[in-house]
Amino acid sequence: MLRIRRMRIEDVPFAVRLSEQEHWGVTRNDLQRLLRLTPAGCFIAYEGAKKLGLTTTTIYGRKLAWIGNVIVDWEYRGMHIGRNLVDHAVAFLKKSRIQNIALYCFKENVDFYENLGFVKDAPFLRMRRKAKSRAAGVNWRVFDHAPSLQALLLGDKRAFGADRSRLVRDMLATRAGWYVGSARKKISLSYLMIREYRDMCELGPWVCLNPPRSEPERMLNLALSEVGELPTEVSCLQRNKDAIRLMEAKGFRTLREGYRMFFRDRARIGNDKAQYALGFLDKG
Ligand SMILES: CC(C)(COP(=O)(O)OP(=O)(O)OC[C@H]1O[C@@H](n2cnc3c(N)ncnc32)[C@H](O)[C@@H]1OP(=O)(O)O)[C@@H](O)C(=O)NCCC(=O)NCCS
Repeated sequence: MLRIRRMRIEDVPFAVRLSEQEHWGVTRNDLQRLLRLTPAGCFIAYEGAKKLGLTTTTIYGRKLAWIGNVIVDWEYRGMHIGRNLVDHAVAFLKKSRIQNIALYCFKENVDFYENLGFVKDAPFLRMRRKAKSRAAGVNWRVFDHAPSLQALLLGDKRAFGADRSRLVRDMLATRAGWYVGSARKKISLSYLMIREYRDMCELGPWVCLNPPRSEPERMLNLALSEVGELPTEVSCLQRNKDAIRLMEAKGFRTLREGYRMFFRDRARIGNDKAQYALGFLDKG
């Protein structure tokens, strides 16, 4: 009989193996972080001694939580394990009195989530830039109006619509990523996070609230000069035309399309125009 239980630290290698099947590049550190931040909200589906699938949830305060890393071992697909995992995660978040539940979903899985009560919200593009040789002589650490992380995280909350500072701070503390940022008198705030994986780099979250005109391009140039030798991926909301134009100008091309989805009702939170790149902080 299929059962679902809380994920434990010793399940992390299994979770990494399943994510590798999907080429998602989720690392041991990523999963350990999710487990550290929401220990009661990460789940394993199993039957007897056999582990069959997983999912994780990330709670950003009462207002919003995210479901991620829904993966079923390919040998066991089509047996309602995915459905059970997502239902279980939703029930856990409802019991935790979370107001809005969201996830990022690639196009091919939209029907799966619609069947489970999710509705499509904003579409996004996953874009990739081929590996380039590293530009010499640019030092990204030199950025004027050096902001405090505190100020940037307040800006992040306005753009994203909920407080994800615990996750961002944990990523910086464990050196899973770094950022370029700028803040001017609490009116204009921008930061762009860069994460390096074994075979690619990921940009995001990237938030620009009232940026001076040339700032987004300048930030992107700084970030790209640092990640030069790896292919780089980013996910941008289609409605943020400025961000998409900039990415295309820098050689990013669309790989896949997807949607942000909400459970039952679309939430009107955050400021999509200020989200230049989505976070995918919980991967998957
Ligand atoms: C997507 C995934 C989790 C589904 O898990 P699963 O256990 O095979 O799915 P289930 O058996 O629970 O499917 C439930 C229902 O949705 C349907 N379904 C499953 N995958 C679907 C898809 N991609 N598109 C449309 N319908 C789908 C099933 O046919 C089933 O329908 P039924 O209730 O009428 O029988 C699994 O295919 C997977 O691990 N994919 C790779 C990782 C991934 O893409 N995860 C989603 C991240 S966005």
